[in-house]
Amino acid sequence: MPPRIENYHGREQSFIKHLFLNKYLDSAAYKLFQGRSPVFNFVDAFAGPWRVSDTNRYSDASFSQAIETLETVRRSLLDMGRPGLKVRFRFCERNPVSVAKLREFAAEKPEFDIQVFSGQFEDNLDGIRAACRDGFTFTFIDPTGWNVESAKVFEFLRSLNGEFLFNFMAEEVNRHAGWDGVAASVGRFLADPAWKDAFEAMPEGSNETKC
Ligand SMILES: C[S@@+](CC[C@H](N)C(=O)[O-])C[C@H]1O[C@@H](n2cnc3c(N)ncnc32)[C@H](O)[C@@H]1O
Repeated sequence: MPPRIENYHGREQSFIKHLFLNKYLDSAAYKLFQGRSPVFNFVDAFAGPWRVSDTNRYSDASFSQAIETLETVRRSLLDMGRPGLKVRFRFCERNPVSVAKLREFAAEKPEFDIQVFSGQFEDNLDGIRAACRDGFTFTFIDPTGWNVESAKVFEFLRSLNGEFLFNFMAEEVNRHAGWDGVAASVGRFLADPAWKDAFEAMPEGSNETKC
């Protein structure tokens, strides 16, 4: 079932995010499964659950929507005579309370190949890579802010056969980037600790955000 707007009061941007994610996954899975790879790995790197309305079924969380979308594609291709297609779900989350919820959710769905990784995504890259050992891997990167060790994450993405979606609040990063207190975290996010010098060396006016 596609995301339902009534579950997204006050967080309509998440509704758009989930619509986009689902449409992309749907098209990617149909294309991949029909010729390129019988295995589709979905990595939800910053999985939550986070600020959901549906606290029973998590129907407004990215991990639950991805399961539903990819399972719908797998079943429809099975009905069309394509057996043997496999989807793996790899969820990572830092918050222990959310990890417990993810584990409970996974335990209630033994029919799916779900693995939950606890802790920072950046500290779980080797384990997740090993758990996506073959096939195509789609990685969804959806941090709360921008304190992400992007260099490690980019290396992980480069090492896999796949695609990724990196969602972040560009306006927030732009608004705070000039503060010395957050310069280091912006450097980690841009995978370039020296970003500020390069930014300030740009010709006057060329480093301003246009609306
Ligand atoms: C914006 S929410 C994710 C929402 C979810 N992707 C969705 O669309 O339903 C970001 C989540 O990432 C978790 N988080 C923050 N930093 C993390 C990190 N370095 N590694 C893994 N999880 C992290 C937060 O606890 C939070 O649950």
